[in-house]
Amino acid sequence: MKKPENHILVIFGASGDLTKRKLIPALFDLHGQDLLPENFAVLGASRTELSDEDFRKKADEFLPEDKDTTDFKKLLFYEPVSPTDSADFKKLKTRLEKLEKEKNIAPNYIFYLSTPPSVYEVIAENLSKQHLSKSTQFFRRLIVEKPFGTDLKSAQKLNKDLLHFFDENQVYRIDHYLGKESVQNMLVTRFANGIFEPLWNRNFVERVEVTSAESLGVEGRGGYYDESGALRDMLQNHLLQLVGFVAMEPPVVIEANAIRNEIVKVFQSLRPISEEDVAEFVVRGQYTASTIKGEQVKGYREEPGVNPDSRTETFASMKFYIDNWRWGGVPFYIRTGKKLPARVTEIVIHFKQVPHHLFNSVGMPGPVDNQLVIRIQPDEGILLKFRMKTPGAGFQVQTVNMDFHYSDLAEVRLPSAYERLLLDCMQGDATLYSRGDAVEEAWKFVQPILNAWKNNPNIPVYGYPAGTWGPEPAEKLIRGGEWRFPCKNLSNDGMYCEL
Ligand code: BG6
Repeated sequence: MKKPENHILVIFGASGDLTKRKLIPALFDLHGQDLLPENFAVLGASRTELSDEDFRKKADEFLPEDKDTTDFKKLLFYEPVSPTDSADFKKLKTRLEKLEKEKNIAPNYIFYLSTPPSVYEVIAENLSKQHLSKSTQFFRRLIVEKPFGTDLKSAQKLNKDLLHFFDENQVYRIDHYLGKESVQNMLVTRFANGIFEPLWNRNFVERVEVTSAESLGVEGRGGYYDESGALRDMLQNHLLQLVGFVAMEPPVVIEANAIRNEIVKVFQSLRPISEEDVAEFVVRGQYTASTIKGEQVKGYREEPGVNPDSRTETFASMKFYIDNWRWGGVPFYIRTGKKLPARVTEIVIHFKQVPHHLFNSVGMPGPVDNQLVIRIQPDEGILLKFRMKTPGAGFQVQTVNMDFHYSDLAEVRLPSAYERLLLDCMQGDATLYSRGDAVEEAWKFVQPILNAWKNNPNIPVYGYPAGTWGPEPAEKLIRGGEWRFPCKNLSNDGMYCEL
């Protein structure tokens, strides 16, 4: 693979958690594969007073102990910068120029905003004042972390504000789910095979299910999460992006705008749910104390940073339709939650039943559909469930699995989402980043839900014991069927999984 052009990656919020847990390890992995530019530097920029040496020491805590990290750490530098202090940006510019000279790097920059969203705009403005945001000769890119707004209005404002200082094609809005290998594989599964796409529509698909379950709780992020909730934290972004990939039309070419055009079209076709209908289409829940594997587990309201009377949802599930030619009338069901029995993200395509049940009278256990399960994580792979004759007398029918697991490709290592996305941005490829219009469309769709929950206290927040599959009404969303209850290994499902 061609190496990216020489540049400096400036990380705002460099003393934060994301930099340590995700960005530094991802950069180290890229370095290990010799995928970083020939001449390259990472400049950490945060309020905290640190020297280059301190920053390297901090990074060390998040780098593998059994590997030689010396060369990699030589790429790390640090400059104390307060996002709101324009004088600091002058210092930043001087530091960049110094690094460019010392390391023979062209003034190409990627600015990574890993700060609280409240300072995104002022950083963009301060960069612009120093003439760092645009250049006719060199590349200038801005990576923006989530949350991208907290509702439609704030997302529109943020887009508008950033576009004062950067052009849309310079802005890379990160949704780390799109960096997951198995999400990208969905495009290949759908559009590089002749057997799936002919069935991928309302004529053959009965319903589509998307689950993103986490077994963890809020893990010390109570303060943030209590203001956010599952709808803003997971559903508006990660889950809808997955829906975009499942539901989109074939793009004309595999290129950023062609793919992103198709995703926007899906979002534009989402049938709006009115505020009055929210209670019928959306179920929210919050985990309560329970015992998991013999251990007492706290309820959400007892978590540090969480309001003891909180009505924030830690679980959200919903039913909706995509009003277009391909999906007219096919219900989509999506759900996400914390403290569920397993950490699993998957998509299940349920195919329509056969038109006549020939074998029911002679041993087929009720009408059952064919399912194609696309497993995003863990045990990444694909599973097809279909019927076979049980060998022996008569026509006993059983369900069997045909499965492919990425782990069978033993020589292949799955890159982390951040590794993939950082490299893409370095190469100038925005395919796996969200475009501004798509983010706004996704907010437009969830806004009535936010409004209804805020304005109508009669819409219940159901409790569910930590370690269960969410509140009971979520199960009733699917008429005449049930959710798949996935286990950690792709081939198994049901309420009773291996722990
Ligand atoms: C983040 C959310 O965007 O995604 C977290 O803020 C969530 O609350 C995380 O835990 C899940 O990501 P992954 O990659 O572990 O499925």
